[in-house]
Amino acid sequence: MCGIVGYSGHRRASEVLMDGLKRLEYRGYDSAGIAMVEDGHLALAKKQGELNVLQKTLPKFEGHTGIGHTRWATCGRPSDRNAHPFISCDGRLAIVHNGIIENYSALREKLEAEGHNFTSETDTEVIVHLLEHHYKGDLRQALTDTVSDVQGTYAIAAVKEGSEEIAAARKENPLVIGLGVKENFLASDVTALLSYTNKVLYILDGETVLLTPNGVTLHDQDGAEIQREPTVVTWSAEDAQKGGFEHFMLKEIFEGPNSIHNTLLGALDMIENGEVLPRIEFQSVKLVACGSSYHAAMVGKYAMEEFAGVPTTLELASEYRYSPGAREDPLVILITQSGETADTLAAAREARRRGCRTLAVTNVVGSTITREVDEVLYTRAGPEIGVAATKTFLTQLLAMYMLAIRIGYGNGTLSHDSMRSALSSLRQSSNFVQSVLNDVHSIEEVSRMLDNAVHCFFIGRNINYPTMLEGALKLKEISYIHAEGFAAGELKHGPLALLDSTTPVIAVAIKGDHTYEKMLANISEVAARDSPVLGVGVEGDNDLARLCEKMIYLPRVKPMFSPIPVTVALQVLSYYVANRRGCSIDKPKNLAKSVTVE
Ligand code: F6R
Repeated sequence: MCGIVGYSGHRRASEVLMDGLKRLEYRGYDSAGIAMVEDGHLALAKKQGELNVLQKTLPKFEGHTGIGHTRWATCGRPSDRNAHPFISCDGRLAIVHNGIIENYSALREKLEAEGHNFTSETDTEVIVHLLEHHYKGDLRQALTDTVSDVQGTYAIAAVKEGSEEIAAARKENPLVIGLGVKENFLASDVTALLSYTNKVLYILDGETVLLTPNGVTLHDQDGAEIQREPTVVTWSAEDAQKGGFEHFMLKEIFEGPNSIHNTLLGALDMIENGEVLPRIEFQSVKLVACGSSYHAAMVGKYAMEEFAGVPTTLELASEYRYSPGAREDPLVILITQSGETADTLAAAREARRRGCRTLAVTNVVGSTITREVDEVLYTRAGPEIGVAATKTFLTQLLAMYMLAIRIGYGNGTLSHDSMRSALSSLRQSSNFVQSVLNDVHSIEEVSRMLDNAVHCFFIGRNINYPTMLEGALKLKEISYIHAEGFAAGELKHGPLALLDSTTPVIAVAIKGDHTYEKMLANISEVAARDSPVLGVGVEGDNDLARLCEKMIYLPRVKPMFSPIPVTVALQVLSYYVANRRGCSIDKPKNLAKSVTVE
């Protein structure tokens, strides 16, 4: 996501800040800025675009204290105005922020009524006005009072005019202090600090910190001072970018629970209040996408029909644009994590040309698709560096469920209680993902079954048919093993001819699903051809385990929501197979993160 840096010491702060932001570039960003204490006053420089755009316009700052930020837009499009830092109306305070302020609309209304003048479309700007509202001479106290007013997640750093102090606070967003001699540093990511110091203090949720060149004081949420021993970091800057993971892909899989949290944050209330898709008068829905996003769309079809009873059709974006379009689809939902896929953009234009209402589900604020459609739902998974979609796919699933629940509640298919119960299952989904991630080493162990395979089959039924297509896609793109996904019922119509003891089959069967018994029958057919079966099912499912050579166990999940943990388990499976084969996991051959050609 976004990046924060802060410095107070004897060096030219602007150089330290720009260097720190440069080291955070790998996280992805669309604008950047710094706030400096210059001759006792605050000075700001911020620009949309890459750091070199900011660098070119940067005045020759001489000050020794400042904060900086790289922004990856989540609320308000990328622009100079929406870039951080933000400065208070009186020009005496400035802040940068990572995270999402959930109650910003209500806070903004209140602050505007008090006379605060807002200049951006962001949720973040409320923080600087709140800080100004609370500021009575003590920066740390004002920040403590500010965060007690906000709901959401944050890492915040604040500076004030005429001072060497930086105050910071965190909740569910990382923040780390770097300790130097007569200088101290602050960052959202240790990567930004490593060229200056390897002695760091990790700030924990609810804590605030006050930093000057001569010291750092930490306070807990009750205001009591805390003592903490520094940690010595032994990582290289490269290691640090990956947060200690060997590859970005694994890091991004592990970011799944947090991404789910961010996707749901805010959107759930908007669903309950009917703000997502405010008009729901349509008889059918068409979902259009490419690759993994198309698999998310397939899950979306099941969810849409289950929760909303709305007939839903699917089309690959590359086909939709050339299809006859005999009947207009009232609502066309385009799913694209990058928002830049050429085929999906062309499909969006075609849908509008046909007079359809269009909604995009995308991860990138301000991406091209957002300008081509009527409505947008953001997945807020944060930037994804690994080429293979992992956390962005996961959050597309969440978006599909949310839309289906919204439409189902709006058209009366779901009662208020059923809507709330479905939303509560979505809330729990990050725990299910976490529990899969807590047990990755058992998935690593069973993944050895695939090491020598030339071909692999993935089979599932119903809502887990698409997750098996996605499992096969993930395995083939990062390990280069030929993998195919099938609806399990289709095996006997042809593919069964290919099975023998050299072709492992990965089969998902979720106890409680109405297709469970049928899946067991399909797995028996496979086992009878001597194919080794790796089962994916819920804990304690001995019936499934008896048919399979090895098992991946998932937490007990409602079948309808099982694609969420199944997806993560299969991402981990592919990762370990590809890693042992020495593949270029983050940049598979012949593939690109954004496919901007047709
Ligand atoms: C596979 C993968 C691709 C993308 C596809 C569409 O891991 O990432 O299949 O899903 O290229 O990309 P977006 O979602 O950006 O339109």
